[in-house]
Amino acid sequence: MSSQSVCVVGAGVAGLAAIKECKHVGLDPVCYELNSDLGGIWTSDRDGPTSNTPCAWDNLITNTSKFIMTFSDFNAAEDTPPYMTRPAVTEYFRSYAEHFRLTDHIRYNTRVIKVRKTTDHSLTGKWEVFTCPTSEFHGGDKRPGLEVHQEELARCHKEVFDVVLVCSGYFKIPQYPDIPGLDSFPGVVKHSFHYKSGIAFQGQKVLVVGNSFSAGDIANDVSLYTEKPVDLTLGKGTWILPRVQSGGCPADRNNSRNDLYRGNEEKSNNRLIEYCQSRLDHIGSGINPDQPPTRAAYMLGDEIYLKILTDRVRIKDQLVRFDGSTAVFKSGMKTSGVDAVIFCTGYTGDISFIEIDVSIDRGRMELHNLMLPVNEKHHTLAFLGFLVGDGAPAQAIELQARYIARLITGKLAPPSKKAMKENVEMIKNISIMRNGMFTYKVPLLKLCDLIACEIGVYPYFWRIFLRDPVLAFMVWYGPIFTAQYRLLGPDSDWDTARAVCYRANDVITANASPRGKVNIKRDDVTAARGKQFLLLACSISMLVALGYMNYESRS
Ligand SMILES: Cc1cc2nc3c(=O)[nH]c(=O)nc-3n(C[C@H](O)[C@H](O)[C@H](O)COP(=O)(O)OP(=O)(O)OC[C@H]3O[C@@H](n4cnc5c(N)ncnc54)[C@H](O)[C@@H]3O)c2cc1C
Ligand SMILES: NC(=O)c1ccc[n+]([C@@H]2O[C@H](COP(=O)([O-])OP(=O)(O)OC[C@H]3O[C@@H](n4cnc5c(N)ncnc54)[C@H](OP(=O)(O)O)[C@@H]3O)[C@@H](O)[C@H]2O)c1
Repeated sequence: MSSQSVCVVGAGVAGLAAIKECKHVGLDPVCYELNSDLGGIWTSDRDGPTSNTPCAWDNLITNTSKFIMTFSDFNAAEDTPPYMTRPAVTEYFRSYAEHFRLTDHIRYNTRVIKVRKTTDHSLTGKWEVFTCPTSEFHGGDKRPGLEVHQEELARCHKEVFDVVLVCSGYFKIPQYPDIPGLDSFPGVVKHSFHYKSGIAFQGQKVLVVGNSFSAGDIANDVSLYTEKPVDLTLGKGTWILPRVQSGGCPADRNNSRNDLYRGNEEKSNNRLIEYCQSRLDHIGSGINPDQPPTRAAYMLGDEIYLKILTDRVRIKDQLVRFDGSTAVFKSGMKTSGVDAVIFCTGYTGDISFIEIDVSIDRGRMELHNLMLPVNEKHHTLAFLGFLVGDGAPAQAIELQARYIARLITGKLAPPSKKAMKENVEMIKNISIMRNGMFTYKVPLLKLCDLIACEIGVYPYFWRIFLRDPVLAFMVWYGPIFTAQYRLLGPDSDWDTARAVCYRANDVITANASPRGKVNIKRDDVTAARGKQFLLLACSISMLVALGYMNYESRS
């Protein structure tokens, strides 16, 4: 074991990846988790007085497919459907923890109260970590900022660590818009942070506020339980994207590297608008914002389309005030007799328990690879999972964990200050400014590729092409899977990763049938045409490659 001591704060997806990758490089991390279970948002005890993490509600279906939200070296079970339910996600991360024996490293019911530099930090880079049993420190989201008093700190357990990996989650403090009259609204006021199920709203007149993922999902979920139409106030409007696209494909399987690097924003927007319009006339019905999809809020649809078309969910414009239990909207429309209002208006982050000079400016932190504070002398503290963007955070989180584990054990050279500043600038440039709490939406697939390049695990076309030309084309023109980051470089496993890529590329849906599991494959004709195209493209590329190698060897 290496002599470096590592503290991981939080045992959600990021914490688990961090423990696993640290173990892999020979470290023996200690993880503090304030809850009594691992999994973060996927298992949090939402009713507990101590949790500072929102929770996936009972009926939640993931907005990312299993191909991009599972880790690169641990596949979801064969019979896992493309989109997972909350229990399926919980089960996946639990089996990941068991498989890699991560649970022995987790100290449950322990809250990290403060992380601060040791007095000799400038020489050693070490950190003091103060912890206490969760039961002794109440407050949850009602006490944002965790102002810790000296006497409280004195009662805490103090340890010194060489490295601290902050995996405490990005969605911490529920945000409420300033709505006149809300203070005197007589009904129930909730935030999606505390939402569990629509059962609690049976028979009630519910108003959902928001225009993004939570708002769409929760309006739909509540409408399953109350016979009264649910009002959904969209504020600045939204785009509703189908989860399932043509041929039964999960939406995120349409993102190829070719589109990512050769396409442009206008093309993406045209494609996205086409998808949205294919199910519901956004423009005619006026629900679309004045910004194109890449720059506006959006939600995932499927069920909500039908709810809107049957008036089970009624779209309202900007909520401007409450007059008692009457909600008044910008257009002058009113809904009276509102029993409950659910704010799905987002979160802000909270890293106030760390004494470090990194501020969160509307969701943006000055971090190399959204991970390493640029202004720190030592690379001994890193944030994992502090990202919001297009794609699945887990994919980027795993690469962050692989990166930091290699960096702290000297397997990777530390980035220079100049390189870090350039990296921050580059991420800022590729991010898209949008409305909302998290102003910067990071294209997560580009971020993954960026980190993968630094670790040396980027799936380079030509290097793959020389071993398997068809796979090289799949990696460039096909969907992006996590397993692609195990094809080349350190800790790669070509055979396994290759098999996963082929299988993931083939299978569109996996259904359980009375006769067993049935995999429905792509339409034979399309597949045959695809293969012919690939063969032709491979032959041409082979000739180009041979010509290039010949040219290189002569010059
Ligand atoms: C409602 C909802 C639905 C989502 N759906 C999807 C989806 O479908 N697909 C997807 O890819 N992503 C989804 N996400 C994003 C999701 O947040 C990430 O994918 C990922 O689960 C984040 O993991 P994390 O470990 O960074 O944070 P968290 O899951 O928040 O875990 C942080 C952990 O740290 C612990 N902790 C916090 N502070 C302390 C402390 N001071 N001391 C000790 N422990 C502490 C918490 O108790 C928690 O267990 C969703 C997010 C939300 C809110
Ligand atoms: N099924 C799933 O997998 C699922 C479900 C829910 C959430 N999530 C995840 O959870 C994270 C958080 O999502 P979220 O939807 O809770 O938060 P979010 O994406 O931050 O969205 C909050 C939205 O509230 C809007 N808003 C603010 N004030 C408003 C008002 N007065 N009226 C109407 N809208 C208002 C903001 O839009 P403006 O600034 O434009 O007003 C913003 O778009 C995301 O990463 C998402 O992927 C996933």
